[in-house]
Amino acid sequence: MRKPFMAGNWKMNLTTKDAVALARALKENLKDVTEVEIGIAPVYTVLAAVAEVVRGSNIQLMAQNLFWVDSGAYTGEISGPMLKDAGCSHVIVGHSERRQYFGETDESVNKKLKAAFASRLVPIFCIGETLAERERGQTPAVVERQVTKGLEGIPASDAKNLVIAYEPVWAIGTGKTATPAQAQEVHASIRSLVAKIYGQELADGMRIQYGGSVKGDNVSELMKQSDLDGALVGGASLKADSFIAIVRYQP
Ligand code: 13P
Repeated sequence: MRKPFMAGNWKMNLTTKDAVALARALKENLKDVTEVEIGIAPVYTVLAAVAEVVRGSNIQLMAQNLFWVDSGAYTGEISGPMLKDAGCSHVIVGHSERRQYFGETDESVNKKLKAAFASRLVPIFCIGETLAERERGQTPAVVERQVTKGLEGIPASDAKNLVIAYEPVWAIGTGKTATPAQAQEVHASIRSLVAKIYGQELADGMRIQYGGSVKGDNVSELMKQSDLDGALVGGASLKADSFIAIVRYQP
């Protein structure tokens, strides 16, 4: 019922030549894939070049962040209409690295989600607890706060298009994946929170991706969990072979 969605977050990596080569390799080797939705999020400077490569293919172009004002005196920022203009259909919002290093809060994430919807971009809304929060037993409270505040004032007509990515901060780039059971537990709780806000039907249709050291050799076990609907992949999305293996996981 929910189409799996595998997305590559390239983070601050790859200049034009390598980005275009990677996009070409993915396009060529994934062109027969219809049962899995695919997205890649390059850095801003290569969006236009990568857009040329993936145009008309089954690979969707995503950005890694946006600001909530359309244009104006905001040095260094980029807006929804600009990302649309560059060929993006999706945008990652509230990634833990943005929260950790760039001061993003539940409030700024909420504004960015609204801005994404206003520009007809599908947001990938990232949430997840830190190691210290998990060890203190705060995972449920942190996730509840992030979901509730992040989605404040967002109508169901927008929320139905949203994708959530659960990315436990302690599993990102560390090689420490959450166990399938750990991930499933949080994913199920996220779905119930969404159901509380928007009703069961909307919650049942919402894709919830897992992110944090996803690789070709752990993706199938994760995807067997009933509330895992895809992955947001960092490191393993930077090489064609490893991302292809993830998209082509054994269901
Ligand atoms: P890694 O796959 O490198 O752990 O990164 C996950 C992530 O942050 C994707 O957004």
